[in-house]
Amino acid sequence: MLTQEIIRRKRDGQTLDRKMLDLVMGGIADGSIGDAQIGAFAMAVYLNGMNRDEAVALTESIRDSGQVMRWDDLAFDGPVLDKHSTGGVGDLVSLVLGPWVAACGGHVPMVSGRGLGHTGGTLDKLESIPGYDVTPSDAVFRRLVKEVGVAIIGQTGSLAPADKRLYGVRDVTATVESIPLIVASILGKKLACGLETLVMDVKVGSGAFMPTPEASRELAEAIVAIGCGAGTRTSVLLTDMNQPLADCAGNSLEVFEALRLLGGHGKESRLHQVTRSLAREMLIQSGLASDAGDADKRLDRALDSGEALERFSRMVQGLGGPGDLAERAGHYLPTAPVTLDLEADRTGFLRAIDTRALGLGVVELGGGRRNAGDAIDHRVGLSHIAPLGQHLEPGQPLLRIHAADRADADAVSQRLRHAFDLGDAPVEPPPLVHATLR
Ligand code: URA
Repeated sequence: MLTQEIIRRKRDGQTLDRKMLDLVMGGIADGSIGDAQIGAFAMAVYLNGMNRDEAVALTESIRDSGQVMRWDDLAFDGPVLDKHSTGGVGDLVSLVLGPWVAACGGHVPMVSGRGLGHTGGTLDKLESIPGYDVTPSDAVFRRLVKEVGVAIIGQTGSLAPADKRLYGVRDVTATVESIPLIVASILGKKLACGLETLVMDVKVGSGAFMPTPEASRELAEAIVAIGCGAGTRTSVLLTDMNQPLADCAGNSLEVFEALRLLGGHGKESRLHQVTRSLAREMLIQSGLASDAGDADKRLDRALDSGEALERFSRMVQGLGGPGDLAERAGHYLPTAPVTLDLEADRTGFLRAIDTRALGLGVVELGGGRRNAGDAIDHRVGLSHIAPLGQHLEPGQPLLRIHAADRADADAVSQRLRHAFDLGDAPVEPPPLVHATLR
């Protein structure tokens, strides 16, 4: 069937089957379909949507457009599972959760991304660690997943190649905001990693990818239906992003924080609680734990025994980083030369944070990219970010800026002043987990 006939069907509101979608995704992956047809296809889907069966077929076509990892030949015990997030600010869950779940008996082949817009990227954070290689050979990746239980790396060219081109065209044809296209894009890549179980963290709030809580919920429901339809046990936690998850944001700063959590500190923090909730769901869904109580016991043991930190250290060393990172983090992780506190200028309760603005502040400091391919300054970012509900007096810090120079710190300080809204009445912070969908 001609590509233009498939596009015509979708344009006219008809449904597409797996064979048609394989033709389009295959042509996108091998280059035989040009950008004009990709754009027209994306716009037809954007305008007319897809039913569940079509979206499952699209996800499977994207998944199968390149290499699909298999793990059955490696003969290890334990499930292959992963977590993926729609992205946030101060969201370093992956750095902690991967090794933590590995220490509980899981195998986590985590293929992660770079910062996108205002959100940080796991790969950028890991590259704060000297020597850490996010593009190891297939053999190294597989060995680490088998022996250490976790490896966090970047996307290879052979994994879901149709998505890379399709996403690039969507980005410039105003077709990103389509639920079936988003879900097929996210799940197509994730399911190509050969997962039995996937837990998605869909963010809700002022720093979330989706613009409203309703849209986050709609995305979450679609992810569960389409992930399960494509044969991977998939659940979603809707978690709060009305404030940064950690009290810091920025690449090196977040690796410091990950080491602190893996060392068993900060158990009362929002970051720990959300990471634990996601890890608990992974253990239950994969059969590593029988229920929430059993999962918590296993998670406590893995953290308190030092096993989770040990897995992180072995992963770092296996990917070219220093074996003693945990003991000498201050020696290896870069720090910014200038710090500046942004202080409250009135008394009040912190009632809202423009989380997106904080994420963009990190980008402006050089901790994210203005243009694809820009170099990143791993040292810069924000710390000591005041939490929602906190009572502040004039002169108390709203956050601390870590910058390459004083001019950058001053500029970002001016802009971020407006990201904090203080009121007179006490404020109840939002729940950390808004809902769990299975
Ligand atoms: N992230 C993805 O990988 N794909 C999308 O379409 C949106 C966010």
